[in-house]
Amino acid sequence: MRRIVIIINVMLLNVLFLAAQTKQPVSEIDKKVDALIAKMTLEEKVGQMTEVTSDVVSTTANGVHNIDADKIKEAILKYHVGSILNVSGHSYDRDHWFKVISDIQAEAAQDRLKIPVIYGIDAIHGVTYTNGSTLFPQEIGMAATFNKDIAHRAGEITAYETRASYIPWNYSPVLDLGKSPLWPRIYETFGEDPYLIKTMGKAIITGYQGNDVGDKYHVAACMKHYLGYGFPLDGKDRTPAWIPDRYMREYFLPPFAEAVKAGARTLMINSGEINGVPIHASKYMLTDVLRGELHFDGIAVSDWRDIEYLHDRHHIAATQKDAVMIAVNAGVDMSMVPYEYSFYTYLVELVHEGKVSMARINEAVHRILKVKYQLGLFERPVGNPNDYPKFGSEEFRQVSLQAATEAITLLKNNGNVLPLKKGTKVFVTGPTANTMRSLDGGWSYNWQGDLADQFATGKNTILKALQQKIGKDNVSYEPGASFDSLQNVDAAVKAAKNADVIVLCLGELSYTENVGNIDDLNLPWAQTELAMALAKTGKPVILVLAEGRPRIVTQAESLANATVLTYLAGNEGGDALANILFGDANPSGKLPYTYPRFPNALVNYYRKNLENGNSDDKHGYNPLFEFGYGLSYTTFSYSNLHISKPTLNENETLTVTVDVKNTGDRTGKESVLLYSRQEYASIAPDTKRLRAYDKIELQAGETKTVTFKITSKDLAFVNDVSKTVTEAGEFTIMIGDQVQHFNLTSGTVPSRTGRL
Ligand code: BGC
Repeated sequence: MRRIVIIINVMLLNVLFLAAQTKQPVSEIDKKVDALIAKMTLEEKVGQMTEVTSDVVSTTANGVHNIDADKIKEAILKYHVGSILNVSGHSYDRDHWFKVISDIQAEAAQDRLKIPVIYGIDAIHGVTYTNGSTLFPQEIGMAATFNKDIAHRAGEITAYETRASYIPWNYSPVLDLGKSPLWPRIYETFGEDPYLIKTMGKAIITGYQGNDVGDKYHVAACMKHYLGYGFPLDGKDRTPAWIPDRYMREYFLPPFAEAVKAGARTLMINSGEINGVPIHASKYMLTDVLRGELHFDGIAVSDWRDIEYLHDRHHIAATQKDAVMIAVNAGVDMSMVPYEYSFYTYLVELVHEGKVSMARINEAVHRILKVKYQLGLFERPVGNPNDYPKFGSEEFRQVSLQAATEAITLLKNNGNVLPLKKGTKVFVTGPTANTMRSLDGGWSYNWQGDLADQFATGKNTILKALQQKIGKDNVSYEPGASFDSLQNVDAAVKAAKNADVIVLCLGELSYTENVGNIDDLNLPWAQTELAMALAKTGKPVILVLAEGRPRIVTQAESLANATVLTYLAGNEGGDALANILFGDANPSGKLPYTYPRFPNALVNYYRKNLENGNSDDKHGYNPLFEFGYGLSYTTFSYSNLHISKPTLNENETLTVTVDVKNTGDRTGKESVLLYSRQEYASIAPDTKRLRAYDKIELQAGETKTVTFKITSKDLAFVNDVSKTVTEAGEFTIMIGDQVQHFNLTSGTVPSRTGRL
């Protein structure tokens, strides 16, 4: 009886709250959500805001992870848990995922209101935790393609294969600014440039979500990690950042603003703290900016344990309960708790105590249920195994191969040592030569990617791909070094002497998050020692860098005749590299970050003039390779850069054209990058900024005219009072070696929200 009275009271309160909300026009889904919320108890609502990891509801026996009947009952029937995430142990077969998701949704159907669970997964470069899936290059490689169509297609395929694993929610893409080369998650980003991140992010999000996120081939994207995660002061994961509001808005926010406009349904919050404020506690970032300015209406989910950490790590909440209060009031809709139910217990108490309002709870639950409806989970909580015949197909593999091929970046090719001739005897060596870990990286088959060699069955390491390409008899192999120590260098040197060319594979193994923290950006010395020993043989050295971030390789690189960067090119990376080394593919990747020459000279390409140094200053901007750099086996020349008018007024469009000619003797692809610079402005202008790009293919001898449209909004910047403005003055446009100037007439002041 008491329970019935409570339920009726709760319903009345809900009706009142919802009535107060009806000022704005509501969609059919909003109405359904409101009707459902009106039936929910506080406990049921708080349950929707609770997310636990699969370990909490699983049992493991003989290495097999199954949903545990008692644990799932507790999660659903006692705590009304709204969301579950992650994988237990390592990747599953599709049929195992079917069982896992079916067991969860069957239990959800037993709860009073039968609200389906939303399952989330990190399918960040393909469906990382489903055996036999298509694994693409990590985001850093995708960015190097400068090809939005490939990113979009990879997004579509990933969505298809995620739904084929019965999962509707993907914790991707990372839209963080990959600004610090030390940061162990650089490879999860689209690099250091805000425009590249913004455009690649949009391409992949629209691929994930399609026109109807609720159909059986699309998933909800989760842009992450909002905001300012990619620039920790000391380069280590989840350590403090100092980012002034102006810089936050200039460099970090635009990709998220664009993703909101592209319709991204969910967002994950940065685990770090900025200017001393953990983002999980920042009402300014989570409510004022995210909702008030960006108008995001989807789910804001915490990152892993981050509400708990407001107490344990950040020390801004005196108790765990305070942490819950602060985070929910700041604007966190769902807590990735994820190991237990204290969030649920505390939040129920906090509402009873009047410390968190029912309106705030209803707002969060509305967002969560709306996404569940939009995903079609109420009609189709699991999905049909027969709907996905293309899972892991050859068609999808070809797209991954193309992405890897267009990502791999040729940084040096002295004397055109590459491509190699088919009869060449190759000696392959180095710690990244024979492991899938250095192609796939973290988030591959398990969190750290350290099981990739066991699970990427049938996929070729660099060594195996070269053996397949030219026959085992033409390839010799000695590891020469592990990641950080020499291993029988004498054997390596001896084998090198018997070969025509050395393919020296250096770089990193897989890692992510804090496990990947480093104290030194230099590549471990043993790898350089191996390079020095091999270079002494006098044989040409092809240096292959398979690495998640740009480790300092200056000394080893200076010994190489050719240098090729594979980033983390994914499951087809070995084959793509072999095709490139032997001329069956022409490289076209360009650097999405600045490759540093020295560990203490870490300056991004959009540096300020002060960072350029002056003519007698040896310590100015001098990276090993610049952002946007990358060679081809053919050559391109740029000419006739033309701008449609010498003066650009507000609301006008500048049309920029340039001719690009393939001046070599083979077909090639070229990423055409347009930069601009404002010569003088009230805030020190950046040396240059990427404003547009396009990727074209040219036959030998062919010329194409590439056209870009630039508006005054594209030239805006955030001023000293955090307003996005344009200022009148002289601008320079740069494409390849071509330069043009124009004037922008009177400065305009677009509203902050308009520009964001
Ligand atoms: C990472 C997120 C990830 C989440 C769920 C966290 O540790 O920071 O990027 O989505 O775990 O696996």
